[in-house]
Amino acid sequence: MYNFEYKNPVKIIFGKDTIPSISKEIPEGSRILVTYGGGSIFKNGVYEQVKKALSGFTFFEFGGIEPNPHYQTLMKALDVVKKENIDFLLAVGGGSVVDGTKFLAAAAHFKGENPWDICQKGAPVKSALPLGVVLTLSATGSEMNPFSVVSNVETNEKLPFASPFSYPKFSVLDPSVLKTLPKVQLANGIIDAFVHVIEQYLTFPNKAEVQDRWAEGVLLSLIEYGPDYVLKEFDYDIASNAMWAATMALNGQLALGVPTDWATHGIGHELTVLYGLDHAQSLAVVLPGMMEVMREEKHEKLVRFAKNVWNLKDEDENILIDQAIIQTEDFFRSLETKTRLSEYGIPKEGINRVIEKLEMRGEINMGERKALTAERLKTLLNMRF
Ligand code: NZQ
Ligand code: ZN
Repeated sequence: MYNFEYKNPVKIIFGKDTIPSISKEIPEGSRILVTYGGGSIFKNGVYEQVKKALSGFTFFEFGGIEPNPHYQTLMKALDVVKKENIDFLLAVGGGSVVDGTKFLAAAAHFKGENPWDICQKGAPVKSALPLGVVLTLSATGSEMNPFSVVSNVETNEKLPFASPFSYPKFSVLDPSVLKTLPKVQLANGIIDAFVHVIEQYLTFPNKAEVQDRWAEGVLLSLIEYGPDYVLKEFDYDIASNAMWAATMALNGQLALGVPTDWATHGIGHELTVLYGLDHAQSLAVVLPGMMEVMREEKHEKLVRFAKNVWNLKDEDENILIDQAIIQTEDFFRSLETKTRLSEYGIPKEGINRVIEKLEMRGEINMGERKALTAERLKTLLNMRF
């Protein structure tokens, strides 16, 4: 196991009727900006609960943060932050609202000229406005991590950043609010969480037995609860397990002391930017191909994944791997998610466009062994038609 340091400063407030507790978490006298997305919070009672909890505070609102939050929109929010002297941000929504608000928090304290440099040039974030979260969609883990992904619609880029100042101060996770999510978003949540675990697990063995077992536990929970969560009527306990699994999948714990991959995400982001696939849809397309083209590098972990997660048995390890890849794709499809580029109407030329974009940014040779060359990436994407 590699050396590591670990500190997660996010206070999680989990369970039914927990939204009112935000009033105790936000410092008295704060001038708050409540950020939200396209309006789902008005239809499911979340807004009313937040408004009531904030009745003793001065607060302003900024809505319209889109899925895959746009830099351009966040710059408009920055104007409000400045104009109203905002000193606390409250993100109410899914990963996009949370990520967008993390960017806004960093941009508000950014000393350079162009806050996009935070994503594009890796300009350091030296401080940020404090932010809290009321989560309405479980998928990204953003509620308990320091990551954010922002899209620039002018330059056609979707880029991540992270900083120690970007952790939320608290995140309220009330599984009841997941009730109004459309099926496609429920499926997206399970798949995104699944692939987050895979990116930190399916690499090479590093004698990190506890992390590997944790990872397997989260994967098994997603496999057990995912189909009911997506396909059956809402059930609070199932939603609770799905929600907590998604948070655990990307709160840093699974990555301690182990190599990590993230190539599936890197490729997926380009598919989202170029062809508008939802984040999780892009991952469901790429991941089975990743397992196939990297089967030598990932051999030992793929065999372990086949045995411990899919409970497969065969003397022949190659058959185990073949079956594990099939099971994974079948799992995504069982959640009614398409897994092929052609099913999303993506043309063959799309392959070169994805590769060119990654090459342009020097992001080729991805993965835990930096072994995913442009050529292998081409093979991978060709397999996914
Ligand atoms: O915008 P509103 O009207 O709120 O509707 C949203 C949106 O249309 C809707 N929704 C959210 N909660 C709802 C609801 N609808 C009904 N009932 C509810 N309770 O769902 C739609 C999708 O929301 P979005 O926030 O975009 O989804 P998600 O949470 O999957 O976030 C995706 C974004 O997170 C990034 C992705 O790249 C993408 O930009 N990621 C962030 C990560 C991180 N910060 O650690 C890691 C991930 O790998 C990922 O890259
Ligand atoms: Zn993801």
